[in-house]
Amino acid sequence: MVVSLSRRGNVEPFHAMDVLAEANRLRAQGVPVISMAVGQPSDPAPARVRAAAAKALQHGRIGYTDTLGLAGLRKAIAEHYADHYRLEVEPGRIAVTTGSSAAFNLAFLAMFDPGDRVAIAAPGYPAYRNIMAALGIEVVEIELGDAAYLHAGHLEAAHREKPLKGVLFASPANPTGAVIPADELSALVNTAETLGIAVISDEIYHRLAYGAPDTTALAFGNSVTVINSFSKYYCMTGWRIGWMVLPEELVRPVERIAQSLYISPPELSQIAAIEAFAATDELEAVKGRYAWNRELLMTRLPELGFPLAAPMDGAFYAFCDVTRHTNDSMAFARKMLAEAHVAATPGRDFDTQAGHRTMRFSYAGSHDDMVEAMARIERWLR
Ligand SMILES: Cc1ncc(COP(=O)(O)O)c(C=O)c1O
Repeated sequence: MVVSLSRRGNVEPFHAMDVLAEANRLRAQGVPVISMAVGQPSDPAPARVRAAAAKALQHGRIGYTDTLGLAGLRKAIAEHYADHYRLEVEPGRIAVTTGSSAAFNLAFLAMFDPGDRVAIAAPGYPAYRNIMAALGIEVVEIELGDAAYLHAGHLEAAHREKPLKGVLFASPANPTGAVIPADELSALVNTAETLGIAVISDEIYHRLAYGAPDTTALAFGNSVTVINSFSKYYCMTGWRIGWMVLPEELVRPVERIAQSLYISPPELSQIAAIEAFAATDELEAVKGRYAWNRELLMTRLPELGFPLAAPMDGAFYAFCDVTRHTNDSMAFARKMLAEAHVAATPGRDFDTQAGHRTMRFSYAGSHDDMVEAMARIERWLR
């Protein structure tokens, strides 16, 4: 028997999953673990989203849709750009995808060839690096150091060293929660344009910023590829539904690749997602709880010796420096889980260079859990 293994399959594992697996094992044994490790809302999808799905299941056949998505959903997403950003976006430029994860695959496949150099920030969401590596794209990780977010200066310096074909950034970011201010975002997009670097803006944490209003990179040019999702603000991780806003030239290539990659996004999730934009009251209540949790953690984590390594501008993450307690955040996270029964994510996944010094705490859970987690960590550290 011959088993063929490609070099591309040799990407980094998602180390945090080891911590999660251990948390699940403890839970199964009846240990009351509080998880601050998962990057997903603890609330279900909005009631009207679930009702639409239930109705569709009762009355309809769920089948393939157009590869770029149901016309009704593409129109609803276009209307969202008008309502939320005061931007006119043609529904024809919108591609519905199976989560933003599929959108990354499509964007990378349609925009880059093997060997092209694409910049991302470190720390950053590990799937960017892993998908690009699997596709043979050269990942250029820009260490942010003391900077909260990627800015035009970083891009210029990296491009000067060796030319870049693309850049991908997220604002608000995972794991830091940092938001790129509108003027800096404008400078970043314009600099990329001037240098001939294609921009992908991951806006999955939009509507989850606690200070400034959201600014989409689309506001600074139509050659930007925007990726977004129903997973985070809309509490729909498991529905696997997201979208892209594409420059005209990329619509057909993305459609062609998606046709063969997965035919169409799931119809049931698309029907349900149309309702998500009308569920703002319910979703703002959820966001209100995140904001309450954020206030708590902003004070409690530094008190416990975990100073913030980035501003808690958005998403539902506190990204902390853990060097007062350890120089090995992975071992520390394991020990904290085993002894204090609180799970958090070691920085290693987000930053292979400096991640041993950091940890990410997700505050998407209940407020009582956040209070209890901080109390447990305090007792444990003593
Ligand atoms: C920054 C960022 N982008 C994309 C994703 C993927 O989300 P999904 O595929 O559920 O849309 C995540 C998930 O944690 C994320 O944090």
